[in-house]
Amino acid sequence: MSDVKHTPSEYTLEEYLQDVRSILSKESDPAVFTASIKPLSQRLAASPAMQDAAYRVCDEEQGFGAHLLHEEAQHELAVFMFAWLPGRGTPPHNHETWAVVTVVEGEEHETHFARNDDGSKAGYAELEKTSDGIMRAGDVSVCMPQGIHSVWNNSDELSISLHTYGKHINFTGRSSFDPEKNAEIPYLVTVEN
Ligand SMILES: [Fe+2]
Repeated sequence: MSDVKHTPSEYTLEEYLQDVRSILSKESDPAVFTASIKPLSQRLAASPAMQDAAYRVCDEEQGFGAHLLHEEAQHELAVFMFAWLPGRGTPPHNHETWAVVTVVEGEEHETHFARNDDGSKAGYAELEKTSDGIMRAGDVSVCMPQGIHSVWNNSDELSISLHTYGKHINFTGRSSFDPEKNAEIPYLVTVEN
């Protein structure tokens, strides 16, 4: 029995970074340049270069592993691989920077929220779920800096995704949210390396 498969083309992190830097040098609107970055993120996510056992390591306490592949001066243009344990995920959160995320392997349930308050009351936020869906390998999602979403691995298998941010997410002053308590909370993640 033949087992002929389409072989993903090799596309390295450095080639991706060069392409993304070129895009960012020509366009300043995140809504525009993230559309250009999306297919490149999908190409890198499918590349054999992104297959590494090290990226599968998770932090049991937080429910996922965040592996920093790259960041530039002032923590700009940060690229991570995230590995999500089955049944684990994140609370609703923003990024305070743009984000492009492509699933490499497995499933991720993404839920989007709208914020209904004006943000003027410290520690307070009113969120409303607006949409949700399941992302699978090759699917790509974009977040604007104030966009709020949660990501959850509802499957029985590990899931892996490639994340590109305008800035390392521990240096943007971003927040997580508890919609039940109408709470806004500073949000940092534990980074593996
Ligand atoms: Fe996120």
